Amino acid sequence: MAGMTDIRPPRFLDACRRKPVDKTPVWLMRQAGRYMAEYRELRKDYGMLDLIHEPKLACQVTMQPIDAFDLDAAIIFADILPPLEGLGLKVGFEAGEGPIVYNAVRDEAAIKSLKDPDIQETTWFTLEAIKLVRQQLDPRGIPLIGFSGAPFTLASYSVEGGSSKDFILTKRLMMGRPDLWKQLMDKLTTLVGGYLKAQAEAGAQALQIFDTWAGLLGPADYARFALPYNRAIVQEAKTAGVPVIYFSTGTDGMLELAAQTGADVIGVDWRIDLAEAWRRIGPEFAIQGNLDPTCLLADWPAVEERTAAVLDSAGGRPGHIFNLGHGVLRETSVEQVTRLVDFVHQYQVKPGA
Ligand code: CP3
Repeated sequence: MAGMTDIRPPRFLDACRRKPVDKTPVWLMRQAGRYMAEYRELRKDYGMLDLIHEPKLACQVTMQPIDAFDLDAAIIFADILPPLEGLGLKVGFEAGEGPIVYNAVRDEAAIKSLKDPDIQETTWFTLEAIKLVRQQLDPRGIPLIGFSGAPFTLASYSVEGGSSKDFILTKRLMMGRPDLWKQLMDKLTTLVGGYLKAQAEAGAQALQIFDTWAGLLGPADYARFALPYNRAIVQEAKTAGVPVIYFSTGTDGMLELAAQTGADVIGVDWRIDLAEAWRRIGPEFAIQGNLDPTCLLADWPAVEERTAAVLDSAGGRPGHIFNLGHGVLRETSVEQVTRLVDFVHQYQVKPGA
């Protein structure tokens, strides 16, 4: 664990800009959460939304992994769903069920009645939490990442009303009523663009877009029904002057399209070799990823082998940010995360790898 007074080199932000760094920067998606005892302790007294809606608590949770591990970036504690409250959606998290949208948006009337939110008002708690977290991170030289769900992924929760396996309702709307789909996606695009920008203005030093469900789409549908909106939000976020990371899962069949979002950094899951991903999108992008989070549940040698393979695949090229290919699983041991982060920092790429 780093001493509290150490000031860290800006290796995460430098890597986002593909500048050379002293060590490969590392942070983990879902680095705050139930695998940590400190988080579970707080959750005895507060619901998930309570933690997000109270800036002091959100700040406290954001800092938990920063105090526990030698991470190179923090990510603000929030979730992709609460910003939907601004459109008039009722959002909740229920034990064992994940996120719920109680008034799912499934027809023209519902789409037409979505509100145009004042972002400062409807997401004030996260914007305020960002300011609090910056006060704690700045003396340590650790940058803060803000984030949002991508329009497609948010649309899928809005239409299904929660998690889903096949996303039948979402795809039916998208394929059958492209006119309504556009109306819904335009609303979400305005929301996300404004929210990302507001986070940067509040102090987020990088912005990540989570398009968790993009891989449900074939390339032609992604290009038509998701990509144009992703391009618009990336463009809007970039006006804030901070690096933008676009992360999706299951999109190894259309990585070139992910790159067309125009983000500075492309996040990839473990379904593709990192070097191949880089060849396909080109050297003008930084890459974030891509260890299979499940391997952290195996004994350490399995983690070490796969982590070394990811780092060798990146080959020490500037612009690699080490991360998992998706979020930390709740069954993960804190000990493994400690070892992982330290291993990434001390690893020397094998010559010729
Ligand atoms: O540490 C961090 O990464 C920041 C916080 C963060 C959370 N969710 C907290 C959370 C971030 C960046 C997210 C993003 C998010 N939320 C995504 C995109 C990334 C991904 O994992 O694909 C999605 C799809 C969601 C929606 C969501 N929120 C789901 C599907 C669930 C339930 C599944 C689960 O893991 O419990 C959540 C709940 C959630 N979001 C928890 C946390 C810590 C667990 C809440 C709890 O029970 O205490």
